[in-house]
Amino acid sequence: MTSNKTEKPWGGRFTAPTNEFVEQFTQSVSYDQRLAHYDIMGSIAHVRMLAKVGVITKKEGTQITAGLKKIALDIKAGQFQWQTALEDVHMNIETALVQGIGDVGKKLHTGRSRNDQVATDIRLYLRDEIDQITQQINSVLKALLSLATDHADTIMPGFTHLQSAQPVTFGHHLLAWAEMLLRDRSRLQDCRKRFNLLPLGSAALAGTSYPIDRAMVAEALGFDGVTQNSLDSVSDRDFAIEFAAAASLIMMHLSRFSEELVIWMSQASGFIDLGDAWCTGSSIMPQKKNPDIPELVRGKTGRVYGDLMALLTLMKAQPLAYNRDNQEDKESLFDAIDTVKMCLIAYAGLIPTITVKKEVMYKAAAAGYATATDLADYLVVKGLPFRDAHEVVGKTVQYAIQKKKDLPSLTLAELQQFSHVIKEDVFAVLELEGSVSARNHVGGTAPKRVRAAIKRLGKQIK
Ligand code: ARG
Repeated sequence: MTSNKTEKPWGGRFTAPTNEFVEQFTQSVSYDQRLAHYDIMGSIAHVRMLAKVGVITKKEGTQITAGLKKIALDIKAGQFQWQTALEDVHMNIETALVQGIGDVGKKLHTGRSRNDQVATDIRLYLRDEIDQITQQINSVLKALLSLATDHADTIMPGFTHLQSAQPVTFGHHLLAWAEMLLRDRSRLQDCRKRFNLLPLGSAALAGTSYPIDRAMVAEALGFDGVTQNSLDSVSDRDFAIEFAAAASLIMMHLSRFSEELVIWMSQASGFIDLGDAWCTGSSIMPQKKNPDIPELVRGKTGRVYGDLMALLTLMKAQPLAYNRDNQEDKESLFDAIDTVKMCLIAYAGLIPTITVKKEVMYKAAAAGYATATDLADYLVVKGLPFRDAHEVVGKTVQYAIQKKKDLPSLTLAELQQFSHVIKEDVFAVLELEGSVSARNHVGGTAPKRVRAAIKRLGKQIK
């Protein structure tokens, strides 16, 4: 990127050249050049509209459009000279246009301002990014469903307070993550729908006196309509904040997911292993294989929360309409987008490498008296009030702990010490398989329900 003393498109009322530090301090082209494609798209739609309503001639419209297309190709080929002195992506492109096609290029900026231009560019850009992130969420969902299919019957301890609570199926646990990601996906769609309106035509803040056709531009750019207040349109960054909030929730979910993978891969738990290609080692301890991918995802969550905070704080107390503060929206927004995308790629790749140590999971589920609630429910069916049943089972568990036995290994005689209503059929409910299969309702952990949920979720992923 070069920084030569370029004449500014806004230089008319200035008598001194811009201070060099000020050029560096005010520039955004080093990062907003990623909007170039959308900037050109917006400009082409704008210029076609200007030609259609007669503000410029058809010929001028065609010349400008051709010039812009040429610039798009140069940028794509890496042959475009970005100049810091030209501040941002908008003025770089506009200046190159005038250099390329001559004075007619100066007509492009008729009836618009960089304020409505940048508001349009970010919306176009974010829309595409949301579509990509949606596809990435779908990839993670597919990986989850495939693993859940393999483990619809696999029994593991379910936890509350990280204490063994009740047996669940691993497939059911995986689908809990799928539900979170589905909500994340719908939050993105909701945000997209709300901001998919064209701000262009608002000009600097008050609108424009040219007979513009905003609906035509909106349609050309795939917007659902136009924004309704020019002051709001050039200053609104709600959509970036909404996106960052949705991105934060995605990261929050991925960090919970990460935490569980880290725990499960630890020697203390030993429930799963992750593929060698998706782990890294230690430079000093030769035996180590570390879950760095989930740890980094957990760590990167903080960045995205930071981006959300930065955007919220950026907008706080800004008076109407556009203020230069708004230029600071981009790096936070871009960082949130880049981070979420990387983490989703990581998860789509990582999940298929998960190997499940079924026996370890099963043993852990059996060891934690996880069917105690089933025994209590059994006593209730036999006529005991639930509170009494709770008491009986508490005593039974205490006895089993003393005897160093799990519940299904107690004899009938041992069990009957605590209640005479206990009969031979009790063993069906004390077994882990019986416990999970009994939870056979919508939302329950029964293998049958897991399979039904996989089917339902599969239909929601295209
Ligand atoms: N680079 C600016 C931004 O990102 C574009 C708008 C500049 N408008 C202005 N009045 N200086 O917000």
